[in-house]
Amino acid sequence: MNSAEIRQSFLEFFKERGHTVVPSASLMPDAPNLLFTNAGMNQFVPYFLGERTAPFPRAADTQKCIRAGGKHNDLEDVGLDAYHQTFFEMLGNWSFGDYFKKEAIHWAWELITQVWKFPKNRLYATVYQPGAGDPSEFDQEAYDIWKGIFLDEGLDPAVHIVNGDKKDNFWMMGDTGPCGPCSEIHVDLAPEGDTRGSLVNADSPWCIEIWNLVFIQLNAKEDGTFEPLPAKHVDTGMGFERVVGILSTTKQFTEFNSPPSNYESDLFQDIFKAISELCPHTYRSTLPENGQSMSEQESRDCAFRVIADHIRTLSFSIADGILPGNEGRNYVLRRILRRAVLYGKKLDLPQGFFAQLVDPLVEKMSAAFPELNTQHTVIKKVITSEETAFDKTIDRGLALLEKVFAESETTKQITGEKAFELYDTYGFPLDLTELIGRERGYSVDHDGFEAAMERQRRMARAAQVKSAIKVQSSEGDAFKTDFIGYSSLSGAAKTLASVPYGAEKTAIITDRSPFYAEMGGQIGDSGSLIVEGKTYRITDTQKDDQGQILHLLDGQHAIDDGSEVVLSVDADRRQRIERHHSAAHIVNWGLREVLGSHVRQAGSLVADDRMRFDFSHYEALSNDELDSIERLINARILENGLVQTDEIAIEDKPDDVVAVFGEKYGNRVRVVDIGGFSKELCGGTHVSAAGEIGPIKLLGDSGIAAGTRRIEAVAGESALAWISSGFRTLDQTAKILSCPIHDVAVRIEALLEERKQLEKKIKAFEQKNAAAAADDLAATAQESSGIQVVKQQAQVSSPKDLKSLGAQVLEKLDKGCVVLGASIGGKASVAAFCSKEAIAADLKAGDIIRRLTTELGGKGGGKPEFAMGGGQDRGDLAQIIENFDLQG
Ligand code: SER
Repeated sequence: MNSAEIRQSFLEFFKERGHTVVPSASLMPDAPNLLFTNAGMNQFVPYFLGERTAPFPRAADTQKCIRAGGKHNDLEDVGLDAYHQTFFEMLGNWSFGDYFKKEAIHWAWELITQVWKFPKNRLYATVYQPGAGDPSEFDQEAYDIWKGIFLDEGLDPAVHIVNGDKKDNFWMMGDTGPCGPCSEIHVDLAPEGDTRGSLVNADSPWCIEIWNLVFIQLNAKEDGTFEPLPAKHVDTGMGFERVVGILSTTKQFTEFNSPPSNYESDLFQDIFKAISELCPHTYRSTLPENGQSMSEQESRDCAFRVIADHIRTLSFSIADGILPGNEGRNYVLRRILRRAVLYGKKLDLPQGFFAQLVDPLVEKMSAAFPELNTQHTVIKKVITSEETAFDKTIDRGLALLEKVFAESETTKQITGEKAFELYDTYGFPLDLTELIGRERGYSVDHDGFEAAMERQRRMARAAQVKSAIKVQSSEGDAFKTDFIGYSSLSGAAKTLASVPYGAEKTAIITDRSPFYAEMGGQIGDSGSLIVEGKTYRITDTQKDDQGQILHLLDGQHAIDDGSEVVLSVDADRRQRIERHHSAAHIVNWGLREVLGSHVRQAGSLVADDRMRFDFSHYEALSNDELDSIERLINARILENGLVQTDEIAIEDKPDDVVAVFGEKYGNRVRVVDIGGFSKELCGGTHVSAAGEIGPIKLLGDSGIAAGTRRIEAVAGESALAWISSGFRTLDQTAKILSCPIHDVAVRIEALLEERKQLEKKIKAFEQKNAAAAADDLAATAQESSGIQVVKQQAQVSSPKDLKSLGAQVLEKLDKGCVVLGASIGGKASVAAFCSKEAIAADLKAGDIIRRLTTELGGKGGGKPEFAMGGGQDRGDLAQIIENFDLQG
C-alpha cells in the first residue's frame, strides 16, 4: 500500500463505522494561544467543551499539523532521527459524547491488525497510571479492554500493556483546555520482535508510538486545576507518516533489518528525488549515532530529511495563508525556511533550490489537499522571494561566522553581540547561529543576545515616544470614560481631570465622550469643548496606556474638575474619517478577492483625507491587479449595502470574519459587516451604508518590508478632488497639444519620438562639424623642432567638446602638440594634448596648461599627454594662445 491508499483506507474504515469524513482544518489555529494547528483536536475544542453542539456525533479526518514552537516543538529533532517532522498529517477518529473507550480501542486494534496486518505480537498498549499529584486515576477501564484483547489473541497482558505517567499518557493540547488520559499503541520492529515491552517509551528507533487514543473527559483550567467536562469524548491521533514509513521500511512486515523510517515512504522519496536532480548527492538512508559527530553521508542524509520536511511545512502553511515574516508564527516559518536554505549548502544545492521543490510536493499531495493546487503560484512566489532575500546575505553571514569561530577559539562561545549582528544584519535567526555553532563545538551567549536585542528595542521605542502620560484619580485608579461616539457626535459631560500633556498641550478627561481616541489606525477626533460659555478647541484625541480618552487642547489650560461641559465632535471631519475607515475594510476585502486569501492586514492608517493599508503579499501589484481591485470595490460601493455592527463573544466569531493576526482581542469583540461581504473585527467608527464612502481611488502600491506591501487610497471628497485635479491637468495638457484628451498619450509619444529623431540628426550634424573643424585646425599646424604644433581658438560649447575636438586634432597630426582655447559661458577654457614624441621633446600638456592658465588668471593642470584648465575671458584669448611660447 502506498501513502494515498493508507490514508484512504483509514478514512474508509471509519466511514463504514458511522463517521463523517471531514476535511483538515487550516494550519492557522482558532485558539489564540497556539502558533499553528498542532493536533487533530484543535478544531473540535468547542464541541469538547460543550460550547457548541457537534454537527455529527462521529468524525474522521486527516489533519495537517505543525509542531515547531510552543508546547509541542519537534524542530530541533528533525533530520537527526527517522521519525520527527515539523509538518505531519494526523489521522484521527472522533466521538463527540458518543462512543467511548471500548469502541475506540477495539476499532484501533481491528484496523491495524486486520486491515494493515501489523504483527500482533509486536504491538504494545500503554495505559495511564498517574504519579503523585497528577490528575485523574489509573485507567482501569482501558486496561481491562486491552487485557481482553491480548488474552483473546493469546498474548500476555502483563507483557503487552505498559503503564505510563502524566508525561506519556495524559494528553493536553496546551496548558489549558480539554484533556484526558490516553492509551497509546506502540510497535516493536526490532529484528526478533522479542523485546517484551522494554523499548516502549524508551526513545528507541526500533519501537515507536503510532497511535494515541485520548479519552477526553477533563478541562484544564488556568489555575492548574482540572474540572470534568459535560460529556466524554474520543480523540485519536495517528502519525500518518510513521505508519506509511513502517509499512515501507518493513516491506509490509516481511523485513525487520533496520529501524522504521518515515522518510522511506513514497511521501518523501519523491521529494528526495527532486533534490537529487538539483545536486550531486543521493539520499542513502543513513542515520547519525549522535548529532555531534556525523560522517559526510550521515550529515548529507540529515540535510535531505530536513529540507524535505521543511518544504512541506512552508508550502502547507503558505497555502493556509501563513506567510514567513518577522513575528510570531510568521517568524517561525522564516526561521524554518532559512534553516532549509542553510542545509542546502551541505548538499551543494544551487541558489533558489528550495522554491523548485514546490512543484514535486504539490504534485504529490494535492489530490489529498487541493488547497496546494489552488495556492500553487502563491506558494512558489512567496518561497522564491524569501529565499532570494536570504541568499543575498547568507554567504556574508557565514563568512562572518568563520571569523567569529577563529576569534573565539579559546572561549568556544559566540558572543551575544555577534549573534545579534548575524540576526540583525544577515538575517540569521538565533537558532540557526546556534545550530551552526553546535556543529563546530561552539555555544551562543543567549543572555548577551537578548541584551543586544533589548537595547535595540529600547532605541526603537525611544525614537517613537509620544508624550505619554498616565492620569490617575486620587485613589490611584484610571478614570473611566463612557464612549458614546458610535451613535452620538455631541453630548454633555463632566470633567474628571485636566492635566498638562507634554509642554504644549492639556489633556481633559471626562466621564463620557463622543470623541474617538486614535486607535486601530483610525486617527483621533477633533472638535470643541464648551464650559461656562467658553469654547475650547479639541485638536486631537488620544488614549493613554490605561485606555483613558484624552481630549487634547493646544496650550496650558485649567478647567476645574467636575465642570459641566458640552463636547462636540467636528462632524464633517469625523465623516471623512469614517469614509476612509470603511474604505480600508473594502480595500482589504478587494485585495483578498483579487490576490488571494494569504493577504493579511499588517497595519493601517485611517485619516480624514487618505488611508493606507499594509498587508502581507510577496510582490508588487501589477496595474491590472490594481485596476481589478479598484473596479471591484467601487462596484460593491454602488450596491450601497448596509453597514452593521454587532458585539459577540470572541469564541463565537464566524470563520468569515477577518481578524488582525497578532492583535490582542478581549472576550467580547465588535464585528463590522459592510454589505454582508466584508466582515472584520474592528472597534472603529464607520459610515452607515457603503454608498456614503463615495468613490475609492487607489493611489498605488509600494513595498515597505520583505513580504509586506502598502496600498494608499483616497475616498469620498478626497477621491473626487484627486480625480478632478488629475482631470484638470489632463485637460490643460490636451489644450496645449490641441487634441482631444483621449489622444494626449499618443500625441506625447509622437512628440517624444520626433524629439528623439531630431536629437539624432543634431548629433550627426555636430559630429560632422567637429570632424571638419578638426581638419581645419590640423591644417594650421606649424612645425617646430620636428613636432607639428597647433595653437588655436576653437568654437565649441562645452569643455567636453573642447576635449574631444583636441583629441581628434592630435590624431590627425604626426608627432603633434595641440593647444586649444575656447570661450565657454563667459570663461576661458583651455586644453593641451601631447604625443609621445612631443613629450620626449619636453613638451608636457600639464606644464603647458599650468603656465597658460596662470597667464589667464585661472587654474589647471594634468598629465603630460593631456591637461585642461580655465581662466578669465578678457576677449584676447585667441591672441594669448597664438603668442603662447610652448617652450616657456
Ligand atoms: N490529541 C492527541 C494527539 O495529538 C490525539 O489526537 O496526539
